[in-house]
Amino acid sequence: MKKLAIITGAGSGIGRATAILFHKNNWDLLIIGRDPVKLAETKKLCIHGSGQIHVEPCDVGNESQVKTLASKMSLLHPESIALVNNAGIFKNHQVGEGGSELWLNQFQVNLFGAVFMLQQILPLMNIQFPHSIVNVASTLGLRPTAETSAYSASKAAMVNWTQSLALGLGAKNIRVNCVCPGIVDTPIQAFNRQPPDEKSKSLEQLKSLQPLGRVGTPEEIAESIYFLASENSRWTTGAILSVDGGINLA
Ligand SMILES: NC(=O)c1ccc[n+]([C@@H]2O[C@H](COP(=O)([O-])OP(=O)(O)OC[C@H]3O[C@@H](n4cnc5c(N)ncnc54)[C@H](OP(=O)(O)O)[C@@H]3O)[C@@H](O)[C@H]2O)c1
Repeated sequence: MKKLAIITGAGSGIGRATAILFHKNNWDLLIIGRDPVKLAETKKLCIHGSGQIHVEPCDVGNESQVKTLASKMSLLHPESIALVNNAGIFKNHQVGEGGSELWLNQFQVNLFGAVFMLQQILPLMNIQFPHSIVNVASTLGLRPTAETSAYSASKAAMVNWTQSLALGLGAKNIRVNCVCPGIVDTPIQAFNRQPPDEKSKSLEQLKSLQPLGRVGTPEEIAESIYFLASENSRWTTGAILSVDGGINLA
């Protein structure tokens, strides 16, 4: 069976680590993001597998770009498909603040981007083969903070949407699950825009919030995404998996 993993936001962080892991397991890849340079770097890092790697720059929040992408995807004649809706943006703001542009941007990428991808890929999912969708939400989608309401609401919507999809798509041989990462060391985190000594201080402060005593790595989230996408979890659908060092309980 030909297996194709379609991974959005694959040019950095969790998406890049996920692409490398699928490739290591000999899946074909379609890696998506806005920046072709970052995607090319991800492709270069996929050295341990034998699958083909297709690179497609695309803004997932732009429905017409996603439609164009889907028409190219159909030419790949995929059998089993894993769609990883990982692309995301984060902007914090004081509660009650954050204008319509901020709210629309957060939802356009974090939720509608995933919806557009699903709508275009669904017709390619042939019922004869098993398929899976993994949505990357956030621990903030389960338990928000005051300063992250737009981002948290977009991720909470993704959690809820995952469950609707799981209910509706099981009969089509499609499983749908969600990973909720905690604080992970990737470019999206503000501490990665600090000079190295300040970043060390920030990480030290964050330690005290973490039951497991440290922030996560992109590879640790990739392992969970891969588990939910692969046949290892063939009887799991509608799961919302926290991979967060326990911070959701703290
Ligand atoms: N790191 C954390 O602590 C954490 C915690 C919880 C949840 N998450 C979630 O994990 C996911 C991955 O984030 P990350 O931590 O790996 O951060 P990241 O390195 O910033 O990755 C986000 C990726 O999304 C891509 N992207 C952003 N807007 C896009 C768009 N409109 N179309 C296509 N691609 C787009 C970015 O690439 P381009 O700019 O090139 O498009 C980037 O590669 C996100 O959904 C994030 O919300 C992260």
